[in-house]
Amino acid sequence: MKREEPQAAAKTNQALMARRRAAMPRGSGQVHEVFVERALDAEVWDVEGRRYIDFAGGIAVLNTGHRHPKVVQAVRDQLDRFSHTCFQVLAYEPLVELAEALNARAPGPGPWKTFFMTTGAEAVENAIKLARSHTRRSGVIAFSGGFHGRTMFTLSLTGKVSPYKVGFGPFMPEVFHALFPSRLHGISVQDSLDSIEHIFKSEIEAERVAAIIVEPVQGEGGFHVAPTEFLQALRALCDRHGIVLIADEIQSGSGRTGKWFAIEHSGVAPDLVTMAKSLAGGFPLSGVLGRAEIMDSAGPGGLGGTYAGNPLAAVAALAVLRVFEEEKLLARAQVVGARLRGALEAIARRHKSVGEVRGLGAMVAMELFRDGRMDAPDGDLSKRLVSEAARRGLILLPCGQHNNVIRLLVPITASDAILDEGLGILAASYDAVAGGA
Ligand SMILES: Cc1ncc(COP(=O)(O)O)c(C=O)c1O
Repeated sequence: MKREEPQAAAKTNQALMARRRAAMPRGSGQVHEVFVERALDAEVWDVEGRRYIDFAGGIAVLNTGHRHPKVVQAVRDQLDRFSHTCFQVLAYEPLVELAEALNARAPGPGPWKTFFMTTGAEAVENAIKLARSHTRRSGVIAFSGGFHGRTMFTLSLTGKVSPYKVGFGPFMPEVFHALFPSRLHGISVQDSLDSIEHIFKSEIEAERVAAIIVEPVQGEGGFHVAPTEFLQALRALCDRHGIVLIADEIQSGSGRTGKWFAIEHSGVAPDLVTMAKSLAGGFPLSGVLGRAEIMDSAGPGGLGGTYAGNPLAAVAALAVLRVFEEEKLLARAQVVGARLRGALEAIARRHKSVGEVRGLGAMVAMELFRDGRMDAPDGDLSKRLVSEAARRGLILLPCGQHNNVIRLLVPITASDAILDEGLGILAASYDAVAGGA
């Protein structure tokens, strides 16, 4: 009997949304009700032929833009050779070359080693495994507002309950949250360090803590930049107690802030670094870079994964590194960042609802409050801004504890013309939704 094919629905965003809602669970959210047909650098076209400027970059994955021609070429060439062998079964040179290249970029004196997985959460999971096997301790300290992933351990580390943790507990034992410093929210570096000392007094002794994991710039948490003196103090604390310092650079790394790793701005050398997102220019790849003695603490077979370090993603990442050199993208990130910051500050001068513009390099955000009252985070305004901008052809992304932060993650490769066009839409959209306030 002939199998009945599902009816081909009209290719509209609305029709596809209806199919998506019927076929896929609501738990996997969607910021924009838009279905993409194609994309190039910082531009996206939907199934209805509408063009958007992309300031979301697939959540920090497209520092080198959509389909950078050199990344595409590298993947195409690799596709003609082989697409999968499983590195633990039959290895391939590009992944070794990538480890060598990243070790050479490590934020501090070596020797360093790197190994690869597929998602950011996997990288964090493995960094914790390595910290535990190296120290033979169990405790892990993370920070409020931090985001480290959606697997059960990384979710336990994540310091934001709604929407990530709701209904999924109980979480892993031996995970503790300290306060992340934020001048705007009245948490000083000393408050934050005191909260760690409080954990040592009331929850777990320092000698049983394996790792402290920190984002040098909090991503989902709202683009809060960790002050240099805070990172220095964490380093000193970890040295004092034999704790492994993990920098989660999954969102802040891969050149976004004008250095390959954001923590380089502070001069602090972590023990392990997690990487993912923009590492492979849009292909799924993550990694842990770390001090060799920690990286070698796991026995053979203790690390790995079927798809870990996929060859297509490996050659894409090598191409990304070449593109960064050839197009001087670290320097460009600073220029792009200054332009973004300038545009947000201009909005802040017109609207007291912008409580703060902050960031590092091209990782820039503004935080919104009702009537400029710092005790009234305005997630509603942020939501209206995101939909008004989309209506006008600009894709934005909110973040922060109250979803009241607008973060800009436009490709660093975007031209000045595209940046200005996008920033123009952003300003006009803000004026439209916030009125004269
Ligand atoms: C800092 C940080 N760590 C970990 C993750 C988890 O990465 P993934 O979604 O690839 O598992 C993210 C994702 O947003 C992140 O921003």
